[in-house]
Amino acid sequence: MEYINYHPDLELARRILEYYPTTPRVYLRSFGCQQNVNDGELLRGVLAGVGFEGTEDQAQADLIIFNTCAVREHAEQRVFGNIGALKKLKAKNPRLTIAVCGCMVQQKEVVEKLRASYPFVDLTFGPNEIDQLPQLLFQKLSGGRRVLSDPNDRTDIVEELPVVRGSDFKAFLPIMYGCDNFCSYCIVPYVRGRERSRRPKDILREFSTLVQQGYKEITLLGQNVNSYGKGLEEKVDFSDLLEMLCRLPGDYILRFMTSHPKDATHKLIDTIAAHPEHLAPHLHLPVQSGSDPILKEMNRHYTRQQYLELIAYARKTIPGVTFSSDIIVGFPGETAEDFSQTLSLLKEVGYMQLFTFIYSKRGGTRAATLPDPTPYEEKADRIAAIQRQQENILEPMMKARIGSVQRVLVESAGRTEGTLAGRMVDNTLVQFTLPQGKTPADLIGSFVRVAITDARLSMLLGEVADQ
Ligand code: SAH
Ligand code: SF4
Ligand code: F3S
Repeated sequence: MEYINYHPDLELARRILEYYPTTPRVYLRSFGCQQNVNDGELLRGVLAGVGFEGTEDQAQADLIIFNTCAVREHAEQRVFGNIGALKKLKAKNPRLTIAVCGCMVQQKEVVEKLRASYPFVDLTFGPNEIDQLPQLLFQKLSGGRRVLSDPNDRTDIVEELPVVRGSDFKAFLPIMYGCDNFCSYCIVPYVRGRERSRRPKDILREFSTLVQQGYKEITLLGQNVNSYGKGLEEKVDFSDLLEMLCRLPGDYILRFMTSHPKDATHKLIDTIAAHPEHLAPHLHLPVQSGSDPILKEMNRHYTRQQYLELIAYARKTIPGVTFSSDIIVGFPGETAEDFSQTLSLLKEVGYMQLFTFIYSKRGGTRAATLPDPTPYEEKADRIAAIQRQQENILEPMMKARIGSVQRVLVESAGRTEGTLAGRMVDNTLVQFTLPQGKTPADLIGSFVRVAITDARLSMLLGEVADQ
């Protein structure tokens, strides 16, 4: 593995711009996880360096990029639907370039399908080739032929890519790429390649720039941040990295995604407890299932009991800690008894937020070879049962916050006139009255303290406590 620095190629940019009579425009849409969204921001950065402007209107675009996700079949179908809809646009404007990038095109059969059935797609490239976009685009423009690349297994880490961020107060900061865990249902290790960590000095440089620029919420990204540091020259683990970052003074909070329970340590929990000013008292700790036989089949490397012990240690150590999780329902062979174990675990933990998915078969993964006799309708019933139970669990947890004062990062106008909305450190939505004499612009992008006066299932309501 090599670390390389990105250097914009100005001569190449000049030659690309010769193909466009006026400033070219790019429409880019990201379909996947935060990592995928961050890739989209880097792609925008690289294109801005070439001289492109962004547009939200596909009809105005000279280049359309779909930055895709392969994690579930539904995600892929949505992308194919959206690509199909571009056919007309391309017929009207033959000079339009259509690119499909991201995790989906790291599968050979997807590239084949695009080649055979979507002749108006001009360009494909994987998530590890962001820096190559100018070359690929030039190749397409100058040669006229489609440039559909096969999936690649490039392992370089490219530093100093330019970036155009989607927000000026919330930012993503990738600390590692790829995944080595091979959970049996998951396609990510196949499309994102092997796990590799950025060097602490590179992360620190980007982080201090973000803090200087006034970013208030910085989310560290990795498929399993708890295994950060493996393979680096320097001996450093994820808790050490958090310590290092927290030393930087400033008005910000740090979050991170995703923490795999098998590698979450007491040291990590102690580190969170030691830095309440910067580290949110919140853990996204995806459990996936509450049943030991299913966890084993999923290749998750922890038991229900080990998971619950971790939760108990966090409760004991971090005051006011809350949790969120991902759940897969209907994994091949999941019985009614396995499922009831999941329901009981969800009750035991009491998550503030749950992301529930019906198992989706992914070609090439181990779980795809397992018998899966449960009908889809039954899986859908199970997910509905989780949602009903979760509402009952959440209601008293939300009500318990009435009367408290919470730190809220203000994000936008609220749903009702004269209100603003923001999020607590654990993602809970809070809507509050715009204080007299303030405009939304005064407060959006900053922290306020909100006294909570009422609670709904989906959000808390309140008034600014002191300002
Ligand atoms: N690296 C992260 C998750 C990445 S994918 C982690 O380990 O937690 C995000 C979520 O999608 C997973 O947590 C899982 O709940 C869900 N997921 C992944 N593959 C899936 C599949 N084949 N079917 C249904 N859900 C899946
Ligand atoms: Fe997929 Fe597991 Fe890796 Fe997460 S840790 S990306 S679920 S293989
Ligand atoms: Fe999807 Fe790739 Fe992220 S498969 S979830 S966009 S890593």
